[in-house]
Amino acid sequence: MPRASVARISVNVDGVDHRDEVEPRLLLVHYLRDTLGRTGTPIGCDTGNCGACTVDLDGATVKSCQVLAVQADGGRVTTIQGLAGPDGAWHPLQTAFHEQHALQCGYCTPGMIMAARDLLRETPDPTPEQVRDALEGNLCRCTGYQNIVRAVLAAAAELRRQGAPEPRGQGVDVPQVSGQEAPA
Ligand code: FES
Ligand code: FES
Repeated sequence: MPRASVARISVNVDGVDHRDEVEPRLLLVHYLRDTLGRTGTPIGCDTGNCGACTVDLDGATVKSCQVLAVQADGGRVTTIQGLAGPDGAWHPLQTAFHEQHALQCGYCTPGMIMAARDLLRETPDPTPEQVRDALEGNLCRCTGYQNIVRAVLAAAAELRRQGAPEPRGQGVDVPQVSGQEAPA
């Protein structure tokens, strides 16, 4: 049986460079979870409806079940696992979700936080309505959303207090390479 065609990709994920050979049809979320073991990004629906798989790709939030891994070639991906600071300190959104009881099962939380992070980069002082609008593509079956909105507003206030709308999550440049090929 002929070997399925593969594509070579080079992607920086949460500050680490990866070079791998992947099937052209492989979804980014499966690349993150199954190839790289970055299981912090969950799969809720696989059809683009729930937002659980949301990550940042080159500064834009994407639902990683709707993007092929080959589309991330040459790019930089930040997942929920890349938001903590180099010292391991949580991103203010992570802290706020914890303190405001904005999660129950937690399945939606990575996507919620990634979508909220995108909002706060553009809108550092959002209204509750703006928070709800920004998170409309992210479904939560547990919380009723009230505490999620509270958490995002609290994180926004903390980020403004710090004077840094996005102090973390740009990916920490760590000189490591994983994957099937030696670094060029
Ligand atoms: S798993 Fe991607 S949107 Fe639901
Ligand atoms: S906390 Fe369970 S789906 Fe949101």
